[in-house]
Amino acid sequence: MPKLRLDKLLASQGLGSRKDVQKLIRGGAVAVNGEIERSVERKADPQADVITVEGQPLAYKEYLYLMMNKPAGVVSASNDAKERTVVDLVPQPLRRRGLFPAGRLDRDTTGLLILTDDGDFAHRMLAPKKHVYKLYQAELEGSLPPDAESAFAAGITLNDGTLCLPARLEVVSPFPPVRARVWIREGKFHQVKKMFLSQGCRVTGLKRLQIGGLCLDPALGPGECRELSAQEVASIFH
Ligand code: URA
Repeated sequence: MPKLRLDKLLASQGLGSRKDVQKLIRGGAVAVNGEIERSVERKADPQADVITVEGQPLAYKEYLYLMMNKPAGVVSASNDAKERTVVDLVPQPLRRRGLFPAGRLDRDTTGLLILTDDGDFAHRMLAPKKHVYKLYQAELEGSLPPDAESAFAAGITLNDGTLCLPARLEVVSPFPPVRARVWIREGKFHQVKKMFLSQGCRVTGLKRLQIGGLCLDPALGPGECRELSAQEVASIFH
């Protein structure tokens, strides 16, 4: 791994702004391979060098991957002039510059959302060609036609003529409140809502339960998030 300036390296790990970490370094809180280092310009290899901050070893991570149980009423964005965003909900110890939601859920949609600072990963997870299926549970108003499952499997045509890729529909409860699960691998604007509208149903509640092989952790309350392990990140692509 290439060497990085100590201030840049520490700021990338969520230890504060460049100015904050420069203060830490100049104040003697940072050591490299056992020696206090007061130069913010000193370069270090975060994988080969032992870096400590206030005596605690730095567990360097190039990228961060968080799972959030998105609540209703917040927007899937990094920042917004008026609205509360999912990044605003991330607690300070898990904050990093460059964190963004990998894929959007509507303001009123809840459930599994991944936040990361790894753009390549987000692309792999979201690109329809990569075949990473996302599972949603929907509550519906109206009743589904008897051939809805085969219509989803063949590829729905939305009311505006847009063609969707084949998707899997499973009706969980055919009687009111009608509940269904749908697996899609693309993310057109309001896609699930529009797919059901094309079948004569209005979505009254939508929750994402799974992305690839990764399920929403039932221990996470609405608005809570936690870091993903390397195995969990890999499971998205299984
Ligand atoms: N489809 C929708 O209609 N809304 C979402 O938030 C996600 C998928």
